[in-house]
Amino acid sequence: MIQQHPHQVRKNKTVQKGEWKIHNPSGSKRVIVTKELPGVRWLEILTGADCMVEIGTSTRILKTDDIQSFIGSHCDGVIGQLTENWGEKLLATLKNAHGKVYSNNAVGFNNVDVHAATGLNIPVGNTPGVLTETTAEMAVALTFAAARRVSESERFMRAGRFEGWLPNLFVGELLWRKTLGVIGIGRIGQAYARMMVEGHKMNLLYYDPYPNKALEEYITAYGEFLKSRGEQPVSCRHVTHIEELLEEAHCVSIHTALDQATHHLINAERLALMKNNAVLVNTSRGPVIDEAALVEHCRNHSNFRVGLDVFEEEPRLKSGLIDLDNAVLVPHIGSATMWTRQGMAILAASNLTAMLNGYPVWQCLDMLPFFSDDPPKAAPSIVNAKELGLPMHSCESYGNP
Ligand code: GLV
Repeated sequence: MIQQHPHQVRKNKTVQKGEWKIHNPSGSKRVIVTKELPGVRWLEILTGADCMVEIGTSTRILKTDDIQSFIGSHCDGVIGQLTENWGEKLLATLKNAHGKVYSNNAVGFNNVDVHAATGLNIPVGNTPGVLTETTAEMAVALTFAAARRVSESERFMRAGRFEGWLPNLFVGELLWRKTLGVIGIGRIGQAYARMMVEGHKMNLLYYDPYPNKALEEYITAYGEFLKSRGEQPVSCRHVTHIEELLEEAHCVSIHTALDQATHHLINAERLALMKNNAVLVNTSRGPVIDEAALVEHCRNHSNFRVGLDVFEEEPRLKSGLIDLDNAVLVPHIGSATMWTRQGMAILAASNLTAMLNGYPVWQCLDMLPFFSDDPPKAAPSIVNAKELGLPMHSCESYGNP
């Protein structure tokens, strides 16, 4: 569990103003956090940096106009959410209010116009490194929930329809020793691949612009280990055409970022290439799949199963999705473990205070030093650091390359 220091937070005054809660009203810098975040350490980081912190307590998604009017004429920085549209309009409002940083409480930043932020000289923070295993575990959960028809059979139980064991009741798919396809082999894709290859002895095909030699070597060595125990080895192969992966895999999981190249990467033609009884999982971003085409495909292929954590027009679902028995749907909770959500909040607060303090930007993959009692004087991750020419922090003192 991430260290908390509740006494420091408690001594700061809290005032309620409509849907906003104000901590440390005497702080010299005004910071907005658009939603309440888990844990208290993030708040301690902000108040410790002499910030007055105004937190939105509403659970509804804030509109651009609401945020604009709350920013007002002076705001030093904002921690915002992936549900908000941090386009040119909001970023310009922040700039005009003398804002110095926008910190996204997410690893993904497709909701932020980073190009506009760079033009306005606003650093944009994100929270990598703490979502990896948590999100990969959710992808595994969705994989088996879909393959083994968990939601469907739970609905059946709750409806009081279980009358006893039957040989044909909710028969699903065995994934053990079958072929896995992973689209996007960044940190989360790689963690998911290892969970499925090591745990379920699946052979991996992966599609990514960059081959991952370290992962290939790891899986080859693991295959050799299995062989040495008299077991079948496992394999790993990089494919340059997504079609090959879609045709061969029994289960496909999407872990790519959303950009112009990945928008509707999975469309009707590509769904048609997949096996009739394949499993498709998405924990990345909804618009990577053409959701209307997916609904149509699932309707026409009852043995095809999907597990979705993200949706094309969140929180709205495309018509018909909710009625599909072969779809497992969860409300964008891929990163929702307490450790990860507290970690994200700490990284988001650290990005913001580091930029207000003029600290350099951390260059290492390891984010754990930010959770220690003596965190680095650095911003964990600023996505436009290079473009803005921000100074970089050396990792040497932390034993990182
Ligand atoms: C969650 O989806 C994130 O991008 O942090």
